[in-house]
Amino acid sequence: MACCLLISFLVFIPVSIIFVLKKYWDKLSEIPPVPKLKNEWWGPGQPEGEDNSIKPFEINISDEVINDLHHRLRNTRPLAPPLEGTRHEYGINSNLTKEITDFWMNKYDIRQREKFLNQYPQFKTKIQGLNIHFLHVKPKETQGLKVLPLLILHGWPGSVREFYEFIPILTTPQKGRNFVFEVIAPSLPGFGFSDPAVRPGLSSPQIAVILKNLMLRLNFDRFYMQAGDWGSVVMSDMAVLFPEHVIAVHNNFCMDISAKAIIKRILYGFWPSLIVEKKYQHLIYPTKAFFKRILAKTGYFHIQATKPDTVGSALSDSPMGLAAYILEKFIDKEGQLTKRFTMEALLDNVMIYWINNCMTTAMRLYAEKYNKKNIDLGVDKIPVPVPTGCARFHFDMAYFPEALLKDKYPNLIHISDHEQGHFAALECPEVLATEFYNFIEKVLKLQNN
Ligand SMILES: *[C@@H]1O[C@H](CO)[C@@H](O)[C@H](O)[C@H]1NC(C)=O
Ligand SMILES: *[C@@H]1O[C@H](CO)[C@@H](O)[C@H](O)[C@H]1NC(C)=O
Repeated sequence: MACCLLISFLVFIPVSIIFVLKKYWDKLSEIPPVPKLKNEWWGPGQPEGEDNSIKPFEINISDEVINDLHHRLRNTRPLAPPLEGTRHEYGINSNLTKEITDFWMNKYDIRQREKFLNQYPQFKTKIQGLNIHFLHVKPKETQGLKVLPLLILHGWPGSVREFYEFIPILTTPQKGRNFVFEVIAPSLPGFGFSDPAVRPGLSSPQIAVILKNLMLRLNFDRFYMQAGDWGSVVMSDMAVLFPEHVIAVHNNFCMDISAKAIIKRILYGFWPSLIVEKKYQHLIYPTKAFFKRILAKTGYFHIQATKPDTVGSALSDSPMGLAAYILEKFIDKEGQLTKRFTMEALLDNVMIYWINNCMTTAMRLYAEKYNKKNIDLGVDKIPVPVPTGCARFHFDMAYFPEALLKDKYPNLIHISDHEQGHFAALECPEVLATEFYNFIEKVLKLQNN
């Protein structure tokens, strides 16, 4: 009798464990229904009859703002010297911060850079209570070419400045291609020249609603998209929420950070060759080293997802602090800042944050994304239903093997690998544009079949 009891226990325990794990796995795999989001009002006061006009816009920095900036740059306090023999292990090296500040004060010609930034047609239009700023660049030549509407989105700590070298490649006919793009590049709400929300809740799905409305206002009912960083999160949400408007998406920050994808990543760690080529294995395994690296790089993320306004008060008040905080993210794998970017381009981006005093409102996106209300909406768990391309830049936050991308992007038709970093449009506009053209060519072929 005792032996039978023992055997039934031996069977019962593993079976129950498997049963519980299976239940948990099924729960993780559940795909929530696509939520229906309203046109919420994010501006001050009550919803009012909307002014639908589209107004031309030019950047015009007042002398007062420039004088104040120079005053602050001249009057910075000395920084703690970097520890002997260190580079950026403790955060951006303060010798470099000093170099940046000196350049900004003495070599950066604000009026000339303002002209540079005004080289493309810019507009503002009011959507759901917020003035939304965007570049709208049409192709120079269209004869015999299909002109495809394209929405491109920046992330944090970026701005439309990331696209100034990328745009002309998209709007110039390319040899051997029978299509070219008409580009819309908005500043995300709360970033750059676009207004921030005045009340909580403007996360990526709600931004997706605003930008869908922007495209409809410009009479683009169906359009293509390209994005990285936060832009790519908004882009995925747009494709999930509005597949009737988004034709195809090209992403240079393809990710799946759901619990399911993380568990899969860990399990495949016991046999990496199942999902990732040997030459790329070091990018994600061993698992412990991978998570250590992520942890070391993402302190800012935790702060911004929890208390953005606190660090925001320091960054709003000190241009040196703001530049250090932003530009640390642009340091490349060799510890260099200006090997892949010019100091002018980097400071243009910092200036966009400074003159608009928008660092706090931009950082709030992290907090909005990770509050319970937004997580419960579950948009991240819904697969992107439209044709998707992923350009993987290996010096980026995290490499995702195709097997870990298929849940989120089941329609992944084009994937490419590159050695460069996170700000691809700025760092290697030609590489990104070529990949993007290749992807769209595939999409057009699929449409014709
Ligand atoms: C910029 O603003 C100033 C006043 O602050 C004005 O005099 C000037 O005409 C504006 N320039 C442009 C190009 O709008
Ligand atoms: C910082 O700059 C000082 C002065 O040029 C130099 O002596 C020192 O070695 C530098 N330290 C680091 C860690 O870069």
